[in-house]
Amino acid sequence: MVSDPELIKQILDTEFRSFADRRPPPIDVKSSFSFILPALTGGDWDRMHRIYKYVFTPENELKIIPKVNDCCDQLIDAWNQRIFDKDNEIDTDVSLRNLALDMIAWTVFGTRVSPEFTEGTRKLTQCLLPMRFIMTLFPKTVERMSRTIQPYVDSHDKYFLDYLNQEIILRDRNDDCGNDFLQLFMNLRKSNSFGQLICSANSVPDVDLLNKQEMIWQLFTFPFWGFESMSATLGFALYELALNPDIQDRLRNEIITICDNHNNNNRSVNINSFDKLIYLEAFLLEVHRKYPVFYRLSRRLTEDAVVGADTGIVMSKQQIINIPVHALHHNPSYYPEPQLFEPDRFMPENIVNIKPYTYLAYGSGPRQCIAKRFAQMQLKLVLCRMLCEYEFYKLIDTTVPPVYRKNPEAVTVSQPLVLGIKKWIQN
Ligand code: HEM
Repeated sequence: MVSDPELIKQILDTEFRSFADRRPPPIDVKSSFSFILPALTGGDWDRMHRIYKYVFTPENELKIIPKVNDCCDQLIDAWNQRIFDKDNEIDTDVSLRNLALDMIAWTVFGTRVSPEFTEGTRKLTQCLLPMRFIMTLFPKTVERMSRTIQPYVDSHDKYFLDYLNQEIILRDRNDDCGNDFLQLFMNLRKSNSFGQLICSANSVPDVDLLNKQEMIWQLFTFPFWGFESMSATLGFALYELALNPDIQDRLRNEIITICDNHNNNNRSVNINSFDKLIYLEAFLLEVHRKYPVFYRLSRRLTEDAVVGADTGIVMSKQQIINIPVHALHHNPSYYPEPQLFEPDRFMPENIVNIKPYTYLAYGSGPRQCIAKRFAQMQLKLVLCRMLCEYEFYKLIDTTVPPVYRKNPEAVTVSQPLVLGIKKWIQN
């Protein structure tokens, strides 16, 4: 475990090559999880990372973001109906998981969320969970059982494989099938300029740049890495708004002043003004500080390395280093009164006082979250839409503080965050 900011800098950034890989999955079975970008190592990661860089560009992200707005419309319609039916309690867990799934279905796969999509995602992302638990208790047994487990894991991605195989055939027949990540990856497979760019960047031969199976695997990154992180972050954001009415008012005022489009009878908000939403930026950073969904980062040494110039610590190839993100974010030396939810910590006049490498909500260095900008844009859009429509408030049933799930991967709650909701009416 390494928590010294200077050493963290060395591991994540300045000597990245010696610490380039992540902790491998606990079980040696081949699932689609083994082939998505976060799990790749060495040259495979280099190559795929370059491919992602062509997908996650500001221009591409801007093209896709209106689809997030469509998903918000659907949620707002559902919540309006509940308020109309005088049911003013929302279980954020259920609503926001559904919203996060709809955003993945629509922005990545070009379909809307359905019971089949939800079940397909559950099978895809949770097939290894029971094994993880057994692995913790009986690692050797699970190692020996790998072969027995493999057939069970093999069917976990059937829903997505069937859907994608069909969809890709359909799209191959048509020229342009809309703005989503599937289409962006498909365009790259067709594009010569992409091939030339990749070659000039690092002499990868201009053949088989991204085959169909690889492309399908990369699309699985979204349900694996984007689903829990988005729904949990949104849940904690609404929760803090409900507990802190002053912060909620201040944030809404900023949003209404800068980018509300309601006067134009437009249900969207003006995303071109996002840069001016300074308090929203600070609010989100504070949500990520207090509730970093990935509570630790991991790196595996790719070669023997000395950690820190004057520590005398030599680590060997394959050893694992953990970086305790949650503990850093809650260390009172870096964040005074860490339990206090205080977005002002991240306002421009204060952010300069934050010690580098003590804030790692999206990681750092070449292996930081590749979707950081897109994720933040989505979170901002959803929060803007919610705050222009509703007020959130604490109920007697709202659990304070939240009760966390004992989950080895991400910070999530075990008891639903139930909040009050009513229509916001402008005075
Ligand atoms: C609230 C939203 C999100 C948060 C807080 C978050 C956070 C993180 C963190 C902490 C890491 C590890 C960074 C490191 O090891 O240094 C990571 C990696 C990654 N994230 Fe995100 N993430 C979010 C959303 C997403 C979404 C929507 C995607 C969609 C594709 C995504 C894709 C990835 C990928 C591919 C990596 C691995 C990058 C690599 O290994 O090169 N993330 N994310």
